[in-house]
Amino acid sequence: MDLFCVAYTSTARPGLNAEDVDQLLASARSTNSLLGVTGVLLYGAGRFFQYFEGPKEGVDEVYARILRSQRHTDVVELEFQPIPRRRFNRWFMGFREAPASVLQGLAQQQWARELPWIEGDHPDSPGMRHLLGLVSPNSSEHGVLAPA
Ligand SMILES: Cc1cc2nc3c(=O)[nH]c(=O)nc-3n(C[C@H](O)[C@H](O)[C@H](O)COP(=O)(O)O)c2cc1C
Repeated sequence: MDLFCVAYTSTARPGLNAEDVDQLLASARSTNSLLGVTGVLLYGAGRFFQYFEGPKEGVDEVYARILRSQRHTDVVELEFQPIPRRRFNRWFMGFREAPASVLQGLAQQQWARELPWIEGDHPDSPGMRHLLGLVSPNSSEHGVLAPA
């Protein structure tokens, strides 16, 4: 099965509150669980960063929903490419609040990896290394764990 991932940043619609974000997450998690999409959402200072991964059809559908959403604007794609394996296989959508500096730091990383990968050699992009330094995708601290 071909796996793809997307990373982007966006600007939250003015007036978006914590309850809106909660609702958005609940809806995202239920869709993602049906589509086999996993990942993490960071939110703070009126900005979003999101990384998600899964089968191509699921990723395309989730991305279309995200691009259609009225809850944010100015989506800037950082990465959209095939991946050799999941990095967030236990989170349908983890969540963490983060200060502006963290979101800015993620947006400034290099997300594209060298392609094609050499068999057995799957180095993470600097962006992914940065993200994994901020969140631990195997802990239940920031996400609803999918069955292992
Ligand atoms: C920051 C952000 C992240 C989102 N993440 C997901 C997601 O992971 N999966 C999904 O199916 N939809 C996701 N969505 C889309 C929403 O769940 C939902 O489809 C959309 O909010 C409904 O349309 P509306 O926002 O215009 O009311 C996201 C939307 C935003 C703004």
